[in-house]
Amino acid sequence: MTRAFDKVQKDSNRIIIFDTTLRDGEQSPGCSMNLEEKLKMAMMLDDLGVDVIEAGFPVASPGDFEAVNEIAKIVKNATVCGLSRAKKSDIEASGQAIKPAASRRIHTFIGTSPIHMRYQLQMPPEEVLNAVVESVSFSRNFTDDVEWSAMDATRTEDDFLCQCVEAAIKAGACTINIPDTVGYSVPSEYGAQIAMLFARVPNIDQAIISTHCHNDLGLAVANSLSGVQNGARQIECTINGIGERAGNAALEEIAMTLRTRSDNLPYTHNIDTTKIVKISRTLSTITGFSVQPNKAIVGANAFAHASGIHQDGVLKHAQTYEIMTPESVGLNESKLVLAKHSGRAAFKNKLQELGFDLGKNAFQDAFARFKNLADKKKEIFEDDIIALVEDEVIRENETVRFVSLQIVAGTTGPQTAELCLEIDGEEKCTKVEGNGPVDAIFKAIREIVPHEGARLQLYQVHAVTGGTDAQAEVTVRLEEGGKTVNGQGADSDTLVASARAYIHALNKLLLKRESLNPQTASDALAP
Ligand code: KIV
Ligand code: ZN
Repeated sequence: MTRAFDKVQKDSNRIIIFDTTLRDGEQSPGCSMNLEEKLKMAMMLDDLGVDVIEAGFPVASPGDFEAVNEIAKIVKNATVCGLSRAKKSDIEASGQAIKPAASRRIHTFIGTSPIHMRYQLQMPPEEVLNAVVESVSFSRNFTDDVEWSAMDATRTEDDFLCQCVEAAIKAGACTINIPDTVGYSVPSEYGAQIAMLFARVPNIDQAIISTHCHNDLGLAVANSLSGVQNGARQIECTINGIGERAGNAALEEIAMTLRTRSDNLPYTHNIDTTKIVKISRTLSTITGFSVQPNKAIVGANAFAHASGIHQDGVLKHAQTYEIMTPESVGLNESKLVLAKHSGRAAFKNKLQELGFDLGKNAFQDAFARFKNLADKKKEIFEDDIIALVEDEVIRENETVRFVSLQIVAGTTGPQTAELCLEIDGEEKCTKVEGNGPVDAIFKAIREIVPHEGARLQLYQVHAVTGGTDAQAEVTVRLEEGGKTVNGQGADSDTLVASARAYIHALNKLLLKRESLNPQTASDALAP
């Protein structure tokens, strides 16, 4: 398979898109994903056309190792990359985890700024330089595609950075990454640093120079593009810009800027921009990190024209106020698809068209829910079917299952939830009063399955489509012992969706506990 490096050798204006949603993005607080969710994201990233998927940090935990290893088995086109510190054990773990991939990369890094070397690493510069050479050479035992990063490069002294970059290339790195780890640089300065490397490092032509910019000052995308204008040919970025602290450069902003302003930025990439909105929404649903409405490219208002003058202009000629079409990012009207009288065959056809392949039982359950929804909702759109089926799929292997819910709400009387759950095949019911219906539901779940140590961190509701009869998509985040899990639920009844989302998060929490301590997990479910 062609390495990312070879693509630039063939076309000097080709930008390698290195996605780190599943590593830098996933490691940020509240963004953790389980294996299934990471696999889903990896497939979508591959389909989107990214060149490299940084799938995780394999040495961090057995779960991280497994995720990188499983991603390496399913990704078809992209290079799969594992992150490693400058340590043999890290590099070995990455080497093993990425082994099944058709195209694989090891990314190894060490801090090079005075502050990182002195306080974090407590190593003198000569030792750091040795570690650069050793880590890159050792990585080459596992793959010939090795990337080396100078962590905190933008606060590193030029002479030392040049020395490290030259040594890393000599030791066999074919990509050199220059991270603005703390998001401190400004575009002219970042571009000048890249230009300085091209001017001073004698073997620089033997490697691709990469940007990795954090967004602490809101400059991550601008800095990345300035890097490209000064010779960088790889950009590291994430969907929706998620990542440490204020995040990383947003992939969708990079891809659309390069597409929309190709007159000024004559560079190409392989991203199918029409898939941007879908992957952005999937990531938001999985992580519960909603996108701000005015966020460039993927915010709900990004293509909405509110003022009379703007609306008038767009109606007369779209380009008066629109520099990109909604279709170019995949923002099409959700298609009206099925109706109340649609039968099993039509439903099955639609599922196939949307890429779902459900087993017999899951299909029966999904069909029953579709009929139920069609009874309540006049028009069923593609997005409704996707929400409903995805909800069915995530519930397939749950230990704690939703059975039924009755709510008393309103201004008079206590708000009450009467809830039944099925736990390992046994039905358990309770009736609980709460401070509002959502509080009552969550208390009822806690009463049936006690989990005192867990704290509710996020409760968020989205409408799947427009209209008052729209399905609600709810995200719930629970935190226990510093670990977080996100659960999702969809239903035309917001309160049922809320119960389903909480139960989904709870099942994940129990699974997490089980992998850490099997006894605690079974105690939680004991009668
Ligand atoms: O921000 C950073 O420096 C990183 C490195 C591991 C590349 O994420
Ligand atoms: Zn980073």
